[in-house]
Amino acid sequence: MENKDLELLHEIAEFESSHDMEKDFKIGWSWRHVRIWPATLNRLFKEGYLENVFRSNSYTGYRLSELGKAIVAGKFSQETPRCEGAVCLPDNLFEDIIGHDDVKELLRAVLLAEKPVHVLLAGPPALAKSLFLWEIERACGEKAVWLVGSATSKAGLWDMVADRQPEVLLIDELDKMNAADTAALLSMMEGGRLVRAKVGRELDLQYEIRVVAASNRLEVLSPELRSRFAVRRLSPYSREEYLTVVRGVLVRRENTSPEMADEIASKLDGKTQDVRDAIRVARLAPRLGVERAVKLLLG
Ligand SMILES: Nc1ncnc2c1ncn2[C@@H]1O[C@H](COP(=O)(O)OP(=O)(O)OP(=O)(O)O)[C@@H](O)[C@H]1O
Ligand SMILES: [Mg+2]
Repeated sequence: MENKDLELLHEIAEFESSHDMEKDFKIGWSWRHVRIWPATLNRLFKEGYLENVFRSNSYTGYRLSELGKAIVAGKFSQETPRCEGAVCLPDNLFEDIIGHDDVKELLRAVLLAEKPVHVLLAGPPALAKSLFLWEIERACGEKAVWLVGSATSKAGLWDMVADRQPEVLLIDELDKMNAADTAALLSMMEGGRLVRAKVGRELDLQYEIRVVAASNRLEVLSPELRSRFAVRRLSPYSREEYLTVVRGVLVRRENTSPEMADEIASKLDGKTQDVRDAIRVARLAPRLGVERAVKLLLG
C-alpha cells in the first residue's frame, strides 16, 4: 500500500472516531464528509480497505472495513511494502517460487528502480517464467497489465497502454506477439513516448513503462527487440534443484503429502526435468499409485 493511501485511511479513521457512526452515519459517510475524491474512495473500496454500506444514484456511503481498521491500527506494519520507483512490493513477493534467487533479486531491483530496465526471462518450459509474471501482477495490482503475446487484444497494445497506462507491462510468450504490437512495443520501451493517431486526433503521452517478459525462444526475436531487454536465461533445473522444486510445488500447491512428494521426486529422477510431469503424476497417484502413474505417463 502506498504511503499516500495509508495517510488517507488514517484521516478516515480519525473522522469515524470523532463521530457517532451508528447514529449520524448509519448509511455510511460520503466523499463530501471526508473530503476525499470519489474515484479514490472507489479504489480503496476495490482494494478492500472500505466497505460500501449504502448506494443510490445520489449517495454512496462507506465505512472502514476490518482490513482498513487493522491497517490503521498498525497490525500489518511489518508487512508494509516497499514503495520506491514504480510500485510497492510486499515482503512475500515471489514467496511461491522455489529457488531462482538471482532472478528474484534482479526483478525486485528492476521494479523498485527509478528508471526502467526491461527484463526478458528466457528458457525451456516449466521453469517458473509465467509464475514470475503472475506474482508481479498480483503485487502491482492495477499498476501492472499482464498479456500473452499469442492472444493480443483486438484494440492492440498501443491503445491498451494508452488507456490503462500501466507502470509495468508483463508480456508472456513474447516470441508469439504480432508485428504491429511488436513495433509498438519497440517504441514504448525506448523513448517512453507514445504517439497514436486515432480518429483524426493525435494523442501524445510522455510515458515511461517498464517491461518484464517471458519467452521460450530467443532466436526468433528481432535483434532490436532483444537489445532492449536485459535477457536473463534460465537453465533447466539440475537434479538437485528439480527434487527441491518438485517437493515444494507438490506439497504447497497440490496438497500432496511430503512422503508422497518425495517418492514422486525420486521415481522421476533421471526420467524428466519437467515439473509439469511431477504435477501430472501427483494428480493420478492417489488412484494409480506413484509407480504405476509414472509408468503410464512416462513409459
Ligand atoms: N521454481 C519453481 N517454484 C515453484 N513452482 C515451479 C517452479 N518451477 C516450476 N514450477 C511449477 O511448474 C509449472 C510450470 O511453471 P510456469 O508455467 O511458470 O513455467 P514457464 O517457465 O512459464 O513454462 P513455459 O515456457 O512452458 O510457459 C507451474 O505449475 C509451476 O508452479
Ligand atoms: Mg509460461
